[in-house]
Amino acid sequence: MARTGKTTSKPSAEALLEWYAEHARDLPWRRTRDPYAIWVSEVMLQQTQVATVIPYFERWMRRFPNVAALARADEHDVLHAWQGLGYYSRARSLRAGAQAVLDRHAGAVPASVEALRALPGVGPYTAGAIASIAHGERAALVDGNVERVLCRVFGLGGDPKKNPQRSRLWQLALELLPERRPGDLNQALMELGATLCTPKAPSCERCPWRKPCVARATGRQLELPELPRRPKPTAIAMAAAVVEVRGRWLVTRLPADAPRWAGLWQFPSAELGSGESAERALGRVLGVPVRVGERLERVKHSVTRYRITLDVYRCALSKRPRGGELAWVRPAELGELAMPAAHRRVAAKLTTLPKARASTRARARARP
Ligand code: ADE
Repeated sequence: MARTGKTTSKPSAEALLEWYAEHARDLPWRRTRDPYAIWVSEVMLQQTQVATVIPYFERWMRRFPNVAALARADEHDVLHAWQGLGYYSRARSLRAGAQAVLDRHAGAVPASVEALRALPGVGPYTAGAIASIAHGERAALVDGNVERVLCRVFGLGGDPKKNPQRSRLWQLALELLPERRPGDLNQALMELGATLCTPKAPSCERCPWRKPCVARATGRQLELPELPRRPKPTAIAMAAAVVEVRGRWLVTRLPADAPRWAGLWQFPSAELGSGESAERALGRVLGVPVRVGERLERVKHSVTRYRITLDVYRCALSKRPRGGELAWVRPAELGELAMPAAHRRVAAKLTTLPKARASTRARARARP
């Protein structure tokens, strides 16, 4: 069909809701109106794919079924349940938010955007999601998917994360909301962005808003939204030490103010300064000389804009390590510790590796 460059109607909530009623994915958090469950799902979904979130969400709801259960849980148990999802500050904020709901609202998650925004860790997106989806409030939300859909449908250029575009998007999202089922409209917008109005290959033919879409009418689907180029990823080299003495492994806990993985346990690790050897860097964090042996593994992973290469070495210490919170754990106890995904992989591998060679062990004088 020839396109004239003109749209033929206004984007309507009805058309989108009709499409959503037919095409919404059946997801566990869509079977409930429990504001706590919706809160948990929205926080998990913020940086993580739906397919990854589902089993975490289901386990979480069994382990911490309500606000009080989460508020009273030990922080380490909360991090353990989040283990592997990444961006662990989300888990700590969720627990702090639950504690505030228990203290200030007797355990009932508030309905208004203002009261929700006043909770630790709850930003405008999460507040809009809980208010609209769980409580049926006419509250808007804009996430990356909504941003893309609205920029395309309304032909909005410029960086959508900056004003005036940003406030325009929130305004458009609010204007679209019907009195009835505003939460469904919000979810339909996100669903459209996740399933049809995708970044690189939008399925315009199947879109309920294909007629009013300005981007489609002008062939600009792939130009909108006008997101700034991402900064080049920063490479970080890290070394981790696997130190085993008499059947126990040395692990350290990252301090609460660590830039990544705060509160989690890991094999002692250090970021390598430029030109710094693993020996020196590990010695620096353990406060004792470290003898670096064979490399057991190289793990590559990405966190935000960092590309981390972690080299894992079998190491021996000549003295008892100093500094930080540390523990010597048996293989069976490793599973109880909340660890970053890369260290969890190392732990899993270690339990299948042959024991340290006798010569390495003889040199290790440190005792647990
Ligand atoms: N992404 C995050 N939350 C969502 C929801 N409730 N529906 C669809 N996509 C989402």
